[in-house]
Amino acid sequence: GPGTGLADALALIADVPDFPEPGILFKDITPLLADHTAFTAVVQALADAGRDGSGRPAVDKVLGMESRGFILGAPVALALEVGFVPVRKVGKLPRETYAVSYALEYGEATLEVHRDAVRPGESVLLVDDVLATGGTARATLDLVEKCGASVHAVAMLMELGFLPGRETLGDVPLTTLLTV
Ligand code: PRP
Ligand code: MG
Repeated sequence: GPGTGLADALALIADVPDFPEPGILFKDITPLLADHTAFTAVVQALADAGRDGSGRPAVDKVLGMESRGFILGAPVALALEVGFVPVRKVGKLPRETYAVSYALEYGEATLEVHRDAVRPGESVLLVDDVLATGGTARATLDLVEKCGASVHAVAMLMELGFLPGRETLGDVPLTTLLTV
């Protein structure tokens, strides 16, 4: 049934101490991605955040945030039988974009989306691997608003429970498969 194998899938996430710097415990999802059964279970669980109560797709598009959000977001879009929209780091998209900047620990970052990638009135699902401070997801919510569209839900593989990412998103429905 739904969710079968999800716990086994999440158990494949590897803890890497002191990466990328001393004191940081990095959560490496690449062993999970390399396992077809695990990857399938995670994609199906994330896609469920984009379904209505009857299990039908409730979104027009899936947006994935560069770069790990591409790995998860594209198969989620196919599972929901909708299109995929890449939200890219600044300077990568060739046509007219909307841009939103957000604060990093040191400096700032900018994300962009093509202006015509999401149509006014459409409903979208945001997909990424990790919710940390929420800066990436918050910026993407703002990009969707600039397009005149609405966010049905945000779906993440994991959230870092010791950071205020969930609060940063306000009242947008948030599904995460694992809290660390
Ligand atoms: C990581 C992660 C999320 C984001 C979460 O991306 O993949 O997208 O940080 O952090 P936040 O909630 O504080 O914004 P990152 O930009 O580091 O690199 P990536 O290109 O490997 O996805
Ligand atoms: Mg990322």
